Amino acid sequence: IPVDAFDLVIFGGTGDLAKRKILPGLYRRFMAGQMTENSRIIGAARADLNDDSFRALVGEAIEEFVPKDRQDAKIIAQFLEKIAYVSIDATGEGGWAKLRGMMREGVVRAFYFSVAPSLFGAIAERLHLNEIADAQSRIVVEKPFGRDLASAKALNAVLAKHFTEAQIYRIDHYLGKETVQNLMAVRFANILFEPLWKAEYVDHVQITVAETVSVDGRGAYYDKSGAMRDMVQNHMMQLLCLIAMEPPYHFDPDAVRDEKLKVIRALDPVKPEHIVRGQYNAGGGEGSYIEHSEDPSSKTESYIALKVKVSNWRWQGTPFYLRTGKRLRARASEIAITFKEPPHSIFDDASGWRENVLVIRLQPNEGMELQVMIKEPGPGGMRLMQVPLDMSFAAALGDEADDVPDAYERLIMDVIRGNQTLFMRGDEVEAAWAWTDPLIQGWEARGDKPQGYDPGSSGPEDALMLMHRDGRRWREIK
Ligand code: BG6
Repeated sequence: IPVDAFDLVIFGGTGDLAKRKILPGLYRRFMAGQMTENSRIIGAARADLNDDSFRALVGEAIEEFVPKDRQDAKIIAQFLEKIAYVSIDATGEGGWAKLRGMMREGVVRAFYFSVAPSLFGAIAERLHLNEIADAQSRIVVEKPFGRDLASAKALNAVLAKHFTEAQIYRIDHYLGKETVQNLMAVRFANILFEPLWKAEYVDHVQITVAETVSVDGRGAYYDKSGAMRDMVQNHMMQLLCLIAMEPPYHFDPDAVRDEKLKVIRALDPVKPEHIVRGQYNAGGGEGSYIEHSEDPSSKTESYIALKVKVSNWRWQGTPFYLRTGKRLRARASEIAITFKEPPHSIFDDASGWRENVLVIRLQPNEGMELQVMIKEPGPGGMRLMQVPLDMSFAAALGDEADDVPDAYERLIMDVIRGNQTLFMRGDEVEAAWAWTDPLIQGWEARGDKPQGYDPGSSGPEDALMLMHRDGRRWREIK
């Protein structure tokens, strides 16, 4: 379904995110007919370009980041006609009057702040002073949204000077992933799972986001961030919320975000012995974390595992184990919900019983799998075996699976539609930092060093112990 006509201004239009995600994503939405003929994209950056040279840059980005079979010369040419450029000085006066002159009446105005957070205030103020943004305009901001509670509050305050909460779209691209949204469909559109979705029946939950990439080339950013700020405070927290939250009364932005906020507020502080931090060693033809960092004594974690407790009625006694890291064995993200034993077994101890596990695979090979027990076929008596009820979305959806929009495409279209469900509200971000800050402060005060782990492994030894101590095991990363 086409969205309303828009003028989308991308600050940082020549930057990496614009080239990799935003512009190729918009091209794909144009190709799909969702971005209509009378919509326009305006790149805004410091570089001294004009419409033509910026269009050339966008063309190159499409060539590099859109799969070849989706590149159609005619459609690319039509798309590029929708693109303009303004050279702008984010902290000065240059370019703002020109941008003002480019804005049209009667279309949705959106401003994407794909720039360093330190520029948010300056840009918001200039949009306001130059009367470029109106009361219906939307602004889109990227992570990192602060690096602690104080800085997140300061960013919220700076934006709130000129924009209402209903105008602010804070991106967490995990919420734009099809499979992440699917979590809500699985939980709330089926009767099967929800009655069992509580401590009484769930033994524990594992959330894994494993990556194979290193931080080479992003060392300067990553060193100030680490896995906790880069992945846990935002993406993993969102996954945890979608799994743990109560059913919202309606699939409506504030109803959903209210429920997520309650989960974040219910998180207990994490005990030091329930935190394992790791840093990758050299190996597999690549340098160690330290070699990729600018600080030879860096204690930044490229891996973290946590045992988290959601202190509310529903989850009392069910631990949530979270882990994420770089340079691990495989790129694999999943959520696994392990159920408890039946209250009474009619079978022998040696029958081979194992738990039911619901696995939601987020990437790659998106799908769901439910491990159930059946009788081992054959005449050998009542032996049990575990088999998967497996649903691969690619197999179930056929060709449609190829057309699933990338997270950014989906989220940008939601901005134009004015739907905030998949964006973080200011109070949500602040609550997430309020939980994160003491953990980080704790290990900094203790001077904890991350444990080394080998590239291609499943993380540091201590992370295995975190589970073993509880008589549980991490699922294999594969
Ligand atoms: C980003 C992090 O937000 O998410 C990166 O900054 C990480 O460090 C990336 O690699 C993971 O995203 P995805 O979509 O590849 O799982």
